Amino acid sequence: MTDPILVTGATGNTGAPVVAGLRERGLRARAASRHPDPADADAVVFDWSDDATFAPALTDVRAVYLVAPTGAADPVPMVRPFLEQATARGIRRVVLLSSSAVERGEPGLGEIHDLVAGLFAEATVLRPSWFMQNFVGDHPLARSIRETREIVTATGDGRLAFIDAADIAAVAVEALTAPEPVSEELVLTGPESLSYAEAAAIASEILGEPVRHVDVSTAELTQRLVAAGYPADFAGMLATLDERIRAGEQDFVTPAVRDVAGRTPTSLRHFLAEH
Ligand SMILES: NC(=O)c1ccc[n+]([C@@H]2O[C@H](COP(=O)([O-])OP(=O)(O)OC[C@H]3O[C@@H](n4cnc5c(N)ncnc54)[C@H](OP(=O)(O)O)[C@@H]3O)[C@@H](O)[C@H]2O)c1
Repeated sequence: MTDPILVTGATGNTGAPVVAGLRERGLRARAASRHPDPADADAVVFDWSDDATFAPALTDVRAVYLVAPTGAADPVPMVRPFLEQATARGIRRVVLLSSSAVERGEPGLGEIHDLVAGLFAEATVLRPSWFMQNFVGDHPLARSIRETREIVTATGDGRLAFIDAADIAAVAVEALTAPEPVSEELVLTGPESLSYAEAAAIASEILGEPVRHVDVSTAELTQRLVAAGYPADFAGMLATLDERIRAGEQDFVTPAVRDVAGRTPTSLRHFLAEH
C-alpha cells in the first residue's frame, strides 16, 4: 500500500468525507483529530495546541489535508510550526481549506494561505462559500432555526452560494490525489446564489413551518455568537465576514466542483430535504 495521506479535522464537516473518499479509492487516510475513532486503526490523536502530536501524525505521509484550528482568531502560531515540520520531511502536497470570504494574505486563514503557497511545491487552497452544514447539527444557525425558527445574520439582502461540505471533500480528494496539482486556488460554491431570506423560505417549505430571516448589525451578531459560546475575537471575525455578503461580494457561482470533481453540486433544497 502507498504512504498515507494525513487528514486533519478528520471528524469534521469536510475532514470526515475526505477520509471516506480517500479510502473508497483504496488509499490510506490517516485520520487526525483530538477525538480519534478508537475503532479506526489509521486514526491518530492530533491537537493543534500540542506540538508533540505533530511528528507522529506526519510520519511517512505523502500529502496533507489541512483544516486549521477552528475557533482561533489567530491560528498562525499553531499552524506555522506544523507546516515547517511537514516541509522538513519532504512533503510536497498540501490542500488547505480556507474560505471564499478570505483573500490570500488576510489575517487568519489568509496568512495560512500565504504560508502554504510559499512552503509547498504542490499547494492547493480551497476557498468554499458558507457550508450548508451550518443549517443542521450544532452550528448556532441550526440551533436558532430549531429553537426560534429564525435565521439571524448581518447580511441584509446579500446573496451567497451555500455549498455542501461533501462537494468540498470531493474536490479535496481530487486535489490530494491527482497526478499533477489541480490548481493553486479554487473558489468553490454550490449551484445557486441565495439570500438568507430565500434560504429561510426553502427551510420553511421543508419543515412545513415558517422560518424567518432576521437581519441584525454586525455588533449584535457578534454578541449573539459570544452568547452561543464562541470566543469574542473569533465571533467578531465571523460576524464581520457577513458584511462581505451584505456588500454583494459573495454573490457568485463558480463551476469548480463540476470541473474538478466531475459532480453536480448539491442544491440547498436537496441538502435540507436529505437532512
Ligand atoms: N462553516 C462554514 O460555513 C465555513 C465556510 C468556509 C470556510 N470554513 C472553514 O472551514 C473550516 C472548518 O470549519 P467547520 O466549522 O466545518 O469545522 P469542522 O471541520 O466541522 O470541525 C473542526 C475539525 O477540526 C478538529 N479540531 C478542532 N480543534 C482542533 C484542535 N485544537 N486540534 C486538532 N483538531 C481540532 C475537530 O476535531 P476534534 O474536535 O475531534 O479535535 C474537527 O474535526 C474552518 O477553517 C472554517 O473557517 C467554514
